[in-house]
Amino acid sequence: RALASKHDLHVGTAVAVNQLFSDYEPIYAKTLAHSFNMITPENAMKFQFIHPEPDVYTFCEADGLVKWAEDNSMDFHAHTLVWDEAIPWWVFEGKYSASKLKSILKDHITTVAGRYRGRVQEWDVLNEPMHDDTDKKIPRHSIWYDNAFDKDIDAYFSNVFNWAKAADPKALLGVNEFGVETSCPKADALFDIVKKQIEKGTPIDFIGLQNHWASEDSLPSVKELLSQMTRYNEIGVHVRISELDKDISKTDKKSLDLQAQFFVNVLQACLAARDQTDVTKPSKTKGRMQGTCIGYSTWGFTDKYGSLGGGYGVNNIGHGLLMDQNYNPKPGYNSVVSYLRQT
Ligand code: G3I
Repeated sequence: RALASKHDLHVGTAVAVNQLFSDYEPIYAKTLAHSFNMITPENAMKFQFIHPEPDVYTFCEADGLVKWAEDNSMDFHAHTLVWDEAIPWWVFEGKYSASKLKSILKDHITTVAGRYRGRVQEWDVLNEPMHDDTDKKIPRHSIWYDNAFDKDIDAYFSNVFNWAKAADPKALLGVNEFGVETSCPKADALFDIVKKQIEKGTPIDFIGLQNHWASEDSLPSVKELLSQMTRYNEIGVHVRISELDKDISKTDKKSLDLQAQFFVNVLQACLAARDQTDVTKPSKTKGRMQGTCIGYSTWGFTDKYGSLGGGYGVNNIGHGLLMDQNYNPKPGYNSVVSYLRQT
């Protein structure tokens, strides 16, 4: 946290409410506040949890997290307003018309983003919008894209972002996506949609590049990672590393070193993007300044709670994060610290 703040860089992590507010494990909160300057709620702001019934909002956990971040002088990356997952039963069972679904989504965005207006720095407005069949070049199927917006990509993107902008005009608003960190058809498809949107003035400020990396054989090079960042920065869109983790099946030295190398490659690309762009200079898109890499966030920080490798949550212990199950720094953590110290 101290080193990143010197670089004016957000270093963040996803946070689980149960652990943060547990009286039995104060080390979770202590480590979090010591090592990071930004938090993302892992689940507390998802539709399913915050809006479980048509007229019921349960803000308790999200309120607690926002206050905790403020009390610890940390910034807040809010997650997420529109997603094809984590939707409560009532949205499907209501068999609503397209216009009713649109008004449900607009009310949801207006209410949730409006509640934290001015208190959160960033919102993942649209989470994982692209189709899994990477050659399709269209958004993934969801009740929002298919039913509310009748597969109108332009209306889908522009409406949700404009609603969020009206609710919280100062927060940076973004799309959060996986599998678009290196060159591939899905990455191109997302880029093309976002480019069109910003050319028509849709308030998209950043793209979250998740960076869940599973392959044990190969790592993406700094150059490859940087090239995806550069093209967004050039058209005036920031990028952020949003859900970094590196699954490893073994914890021998070779695997831990490979994992450390991944964390550093991603950091190096993010810092290189900051070096090569100047947010005070015009971008290739009229009316927008150049973008940069605004943050580096992992999806959890201790292997005790969550990481890839069979799932997420208390019972799914993996080895994908920066600290081990006892909150000890792993080689990845030490490498990130050394890299920040030397640059
Ligand atoms: O807390 C409830 C509990 O009350 C309920 O009885 C139980 C039964 O279903 O579910 C519990 O909620 C689970 C929740 O995690 C908390 O543990 C949900 O079912 C489960 O779906 C949820 O999984 C989360 C998943 O997103 C889906 O929302 C993971 O924790 C979370 O790490 C994961 O995060 C996603 C990002 O939002 C987007 N990018 C990928 C990332 C990893 O999959």
